[in-house]
Amino acid sequence: MSNRRTFLKGAAIAAVPLMLDFRRTATSLLSPVVYNADEINFFFDGDRNYTDPEFYSKKLAELTKGAKDQADFYGQGGSVSALEQAFAGITGKEKAIFVPSGTMANQLALKILSGNNTKIFIQETSHIFRDEADAAQSVHGKRLIPLAKGLGNFTLEELKESIDYHNQGEVFKSGIGVISIENPVRRMDGQLFNFDEMKKISAYCKEHGYKLHLDGARLHIASSYSGIPVKDYAACFDTVYISLYKYLGSAGGAILCGDATVIDQIPHWIKVYGGNMFQNWPYALMALQNLKDIEKRLSDTRQKGEEFTALINQSDEFQISKITGGTNVCDLTIRGSIDFKKFNDLLREKGILMGRPAKGTIKTLINETILKRDGLELLKTMKEAYNKAKTA
Ligand SMILES: Cc1ncc(COP(=O)(O)O)c(C=O)c1O
Repeated sequence: MSNRRTFLKGAAIAAVPLMLDFRRTATSLLSPVVYNADEINFFFDGDRNYTDPEFYSKKLAELTKGAKDQADFYGQGGSVSALEQAFAGITGKEKAIFVPSGTMANQLALKILSGNNTKIFIQETSHIFRDEADAAQSVHGKRLIPLAKGLGNFTLEELKESIDYHNQGEVFKSGIGVISIENPVRRMDGQLFNFDEMKKISAYCKEHGYKLHLDGARLHIASSYSGIPVKDYAACFDTVYISLYKYLGSAGGAILCGDATVIDQIPHWIKVYGGNMFQNWPYALMALQNLKDIEKRLSDTRQKGEEFTALINQSDEFQISKITGGTNVCDLTIRGSIDFKKFNDLLREKGILMGRPAKGTIKTLINETILKRDGLELLKTMKEAYNKAKTA
């Protein structure tokens, strides 16, 4: 708890990097945030400039100039309602609702979908299982049953096996509430959940009356790399959560989409858990703006990332390996012996932020900041830093 507080204070960031060791990197690299329009970062979900208060408020000033209808009142009206409508359309769900955090969106979805049933089947590597402070157990009285330890994917067969095991082994039965899937999987370097398996699981859950929740914090990334539309993913699930700050530039917040019968219950529970904020538009308006071209931006990013990877892999100094079934996270290996701190510092002077090496590779996340510079130019800057940081 205190570690996390120290980190957040030190880093002063909203766009939390992908992996926990990125968090440690972030603490030392990113405090304080200094605005740099040309900055490329290889470990945040998006452009770090959105975490600069001056940049963020200027953007808001542009978006609000002359507009009279953007404010909300406790989440009702203005850009909040507009964002909710947009997301209902994007996911093909009846309704969507703004929720102050992804953690709250996940937890409330699980709570409402499962009703009095207590069991929730979930990836062992998921954010809900590992990174939500045991809220499902301690606040909502749910029992999380982990599947596929250390992996991003589980199969329908594994799910059935676990369901049968728990059903058969219980004398005093308590019901099955929800099956929850995270896609892409943050702790597995952005690995995708296999879509064919997802469809099979969805059909099985419908047949047996089990509810299905999607933690799609980075669902647009999944869609961009798999080619499967957000709507097709969403169709497999009863509820879908998407983060507003990871790829939509907002200072925070989440959206939860689903049937009206579920979504209409959410405001009451947001209030009960103390998350009912008077004004939410500064979050919603930024996300709404960045939602407009998200598919094109991420598709351009993916393409540029692939071109850059090809360039890197032709070089003598660096090599990028993709994650099997992955998205925008890869492993960068640096050949020969270099002083990594010097390498990182030299790149930072040129407005390029890299993570730190672990076991000889640097986890590297390709986000839209890569669109800011020419690939050859970027490689040239990396090679210059490499030559100066070489130790042998
Ligand atoms: C996959 C996943 N789900 C949920 C969350 C929670 O989001 P929030 O920080 O808005 O609570 C995160 C945040 O890092 C995440 O990566």
